[in-house]
Amino acid sequence: MITFTIFIIDDEQSIRQGISYGLKKIYNTECFSSAEDAIKAMEKNTPDLVLLDVGLPGMDGIAALRIIREKYPDVLVVMITAYENNETVITAMKYGAKDYLIKPIHMESLKACLSKVLETVKLKKEIRGLQERYIKENIPCFVGESDAIQDVIQIVEKVAQSVDTPIMITGESGTGKELIASAIHYNSPNFQGTLATLNCAAIPKDLIESELFGYEKGAFTGAAKGGKEGLIEQAADGTLFLDEVGDLSLEAQAKLLRFLEDGEYYRVGGTRKHHVQARVVSATNKDLNSMIQHGLFRLDLYYRLAVIRIEIPSLNDRREDILPIAKHFLVEFSNKHNKPFTAISDNAEDYLKNFQWTGNIRELRNLIERGVLVGDGPDLLLRDISDIGGIMGLATLPRIIPNGALPPLPDEGIDLEELEEHFIREAFKKAKGNDTKAAQLLKMNYYSYRYRRKKIKGLER
Ligand SMILES: Nc1ncnc2c1ncn2[C@@H]1O[C@H](COP(=O)(O)OP(=O)(O)OP(=O)(O)O)[C@@H](O)[C@H]1O
Ligand SMILES: [Mg+2]
Repeated sequence: MITFTIFIIDDEQSIRQGISYGLKKIYNTECFSSAEDAIKAMEKNTPDLVLLDVGLPGMDGIAALRIIREKYPDVLVVMITAYENNETVITAMKYGAKDYLIKPIHMESLKACLSKVLETVKLKKEIRGLQERYIKENIPCFVGESDAIQDVIQIVEKVAQSVDTPIMITGESGTGKELIASAIHYNSPNFQGTLATLNCAAIPKDLIESELFGYEKGAFTGAAKGGKEGLIEQAADGTLFLDEVGDLSLEAQAKLLRFLEDGEYYRVGGTRKHHVQARVVSATNKDLNSMIQHGLFRLDLYYRLAVIRIEIPSLNDRREDILPIAKHFLVEFSNKHNKPFTAISDNAEDYLKNFQWTGNIRELRNLIERGVLVGDGPDLLLRDISDIGGIMGLATLPRIIPNGALPPLPDEGIDLEELEEHFIREAFKKAKGNDTKAAQLLKMNYYSYRYRRKKIKGLER
């Protein structure tokens, strides 16, 4: 059941109380004796509808109407006036009031007016509720606090609304392009349609056309008896997602272009023209500019696909997102693998923050899952995520320093980091700067070695 909130603004207490009493079984109501108070309260709790008296002390009803319509365009306003003055009514309608009622208010006509005016909001709310369920069920959580990712989220919400606009998502591998594509689909008015994905890199070149456009029976050997509908047809009134679009052959590019130009296409082996309306979203981690320059990607197709382009920055360029995303994965994988992880240790946090993420979020996700699997919790430790050697068996190597071979710990203690730095410098020299060799000399995981080496003065490169 959808419940609506109605603000009642009138300076006469008896009217406020009367209306509120009459409506309380059907709506949530809140009463205000001045427009100023009501507008202030809207910052915290936005109503669906405002019943607004025209003659108010302080800010009058018309002035309040203008402010409410401008600040909260989704809030409906119904005016209440003490006497029928055509001019006021016309002004109120001009500024966007939905209806007006003349005092004394009859409860039945008020209820009829509200139910009529709220009908469209009800429909919108029902659809929104349904859409939220789709979003929850279909899109994994999208985490990110950096300005760059907040910008991406804002653009997605905006462009998702216009289903005719083709969108191209670019970014390095593992930055979340596919996730953004599904966010676009499920936030669009076509969310109930199909999100049909063609992975242009994974499908053999000569099958792409039939996957995309479908085929008629007997189109080629091995074709299904009754023919088959293509992804474009499935995506009708939905979204066609062309993943890795940079991998399309020039031949397929030409056919796709024809479809994008007029929405028309033929099934493979068919003579009947088909027409489909589908939003097209594409993604690639390839440098299309350079491909265009080398004649490997059609410029005209690029213009068709990238009417809006969303570039997702690499994780290294938005380091403030690393920890929130890591924590999100920690919770996800602790639940999945039934482990007791609740936090990330300071060292491990440092390590993650400074890591060079070549595989972006996918790499971070894998690293955290591995850490959750090998570690014991409740804290995720540096060794859980950096000591891959442990997993591969290096930890079980025989100890190379027999007891007593090193001096005992002096009373004043030692600086362990200094010792570590000393040996890393030695290994660096011996391995002539080769990270893999140096890491082997120290029986360290390559990444842990590189991470530590980079912290040492003179060896940062
Ligand atoms: N901001 C984010 N918050 C949470 N998870 C994310 C985020 N971005 C990406 N992911 C997750 O990271 C993984 C990789 O994302 P995705 O597959 O969308 O990347 P991609 O850019 O399509 O990579 P590729 O170019 O290799 O295909 C997925 O499991 C995805 O759910
Ligand atoms: Mg992808």
